[in-house]
Amino acid sequence: MIIAVDGPAASGKGTLARALAEHFGLAYLDTGSLYRATAVRLLAVGNTDPTEDEATKAADTITAADRESPDLRSEATGQMASTVAAMAGVRASLLAFQRNFAANPPGGATGAVMDGRDIGTVVLPDADKKLFITASAKARAHRRFLELSASGDPTSEDQVLADLIDRDRRDAERAQSPMVQAPDAHLLDTTELDIDAAFLAAKAYISGPAR
Ligand code: C5P
Repeated sequence: MIIAVDGPAASGKGTLARALAEHFGLAYLDTGSLYRATAVRLLAVGNTDPTEDEATKAADTITAADRESPDLRSEATGQMASTVAAMAGVRASLLAFQRNFAANPPGGATGAVMDGRDIGTVVLPDADKKLFITASAKARAHRRFLELSASGDPTSEDQVLADLIDRDRRDAERAQSPMVQAPDAHLLDTTELDIDAAFLAAKAYISGPAR
């Protein structure tokens, strides 16, 4: 069983994908962490304006430690991740890892849940189930603001909203694997749903008839 979960920043797709993986006994991969790890590597050496060649080399050499960096979730890392994610070389570099994860899920799991922007469209177009998770920009910015505040980041909610809209636009408008709902994906809008309600709706779709 392969489940693709795509959607914009702070839509709740990560929390949902993790919960689905646990419920169905599947391996979980947060594919955004690969792009973020690439950004962490570049920012660690002060490279804030990488060429495609430099960014691709960074993507080629990410390690598990990069994906566990304390800076992984910061706003600066997210913006840089979105910048390098528009580069064809970076996407090609990270594609094999993602497909290999789905083909050989770790821990003896019989399948995988992977979340990102292009899982159902490009990485795993034959996934058994595809979800596209969304929510209004305001609701997503509020959630992200609460997360950042809890981690001690002094940013304002208006700034979070502006950054989020900026990142969504870049992700949706890029030429390479833009963020878009796959025609055969199930749309789940979580604006008015808490995590329990979103989980129940996603579980009902996954347990329902084949795509
Ligand atoms: O999901 P997350 O917000 O952590 O992803 C960070 C960035 O990585 C996104 O804004 C997007 O540009 C990029 N990304 C992508 N394709 C994926 C996952 C993430 O382009 N499958």
